[in-house]
This record gives sequence, structure tokens and C-alpha cells, in this order.
Amino acid sequence: MKGGNVEKGKQIFMKQCSRCHSVDPKACHGMGPNLHGVVGRQAGSIPGFHFSSAFEKSTLVWDPENLSSYLQNPRKHIPSNNMPYCCLEDPEDRRNIIAFLQAGSK
Ligand code: HEC
Repeated sequence: MKGGNVEKGKQIFMKQCSRCHSVDPKACHGMGPNLHGVVGRQAGSIPGFHFSSAFEKSTLVWDPENLSSYLQNPRKHIPSNNMPYCCLEDPEDRRNIIAFLQAGSK
């Protein structure tokens, strides 16, 4: 999972994810958890957000590959999770959005 375009990823994020998620380390959680530094973090582990039990039980550590399958179909990848979103179908969009999330993690 290399070569994503951070700028394009940001645009998609702003359109599709930012109403529920922030990537600003100083921002509060929205309807979804803050995604700053999500790549490399254990799923459902950020403090202060009330995750579904599906996430709380998960031992998954987010990396570009599993984020991509998650975004392609959240409910299929983590059954009975609470993210009311489906689905980021275009592999190019997924690559770009993950590049954006990773860039924000550094
Ligand atoms: C309508 C609101 C909403 C939208 C839109 C949304 N999400 Fe979420 N997201 C959530 C919620 C709520 C959760 C927590 C789910 C749970 O606890 O089961 C979540 C969880 C996540 C997680 C897991 C975070 C962690 O710390 O484990 C990731 C990654 C994520 N979302 C990425 C995205 C991306 C990228 C997009 C845009 C393509 C997106 N989400 C769109 C609400 C949303």
C-alpha cells in the first residue's frame, strides 16, 4: 500500500469522513473517534470515546492493509461495529485516504 496521494486523500476525507471524524490532535471526538495517529494504533483503544463492544474486544492493530479492507466494507470487516458508513469502493480512494491518515500520524 504505497504511493497514495495525501492531498487527494484529504479531499475525500473532508467529504466523506470529517462530519464524524477529526484528525486534529487537539480536537475532541465527534460522532466517531479522533483519527489522529490511527495507523499503528490498536483498534478501539483511544481514550475518551465510547466504542461498541465489537471494537472494545478487538485486538486488531490498524495498518494500511486492514484499514483498506475496513473502509471497503466496515460491517464485514468488524461485524456489528457502530460506524454508520459504507463503503469506500474505489481502491484508489482508499489508498489516498490512508496516505492522508498516515501523513497525519507522524
Ligand atoms: C456517520 C459517522 C461516520 C462516518 C461518516 C465515518 N465514520 Fe469512522 N467511525 C464512526 C464511529 C461511530 C466509529 C466507532 C465505531 C464503533 O465503536 O463500533 C468509527 C470508527 C472508525 C475507525 C476506527 C478507529 C479506532 O480508533 O479504532 C476508523 C479507522 C474510521 N472510523 C475511519 C473512517 C474513515 C476513513 C471514514 C471516511 C471514509 C469514516 N470513518 C467515516 C463514525 C463514522
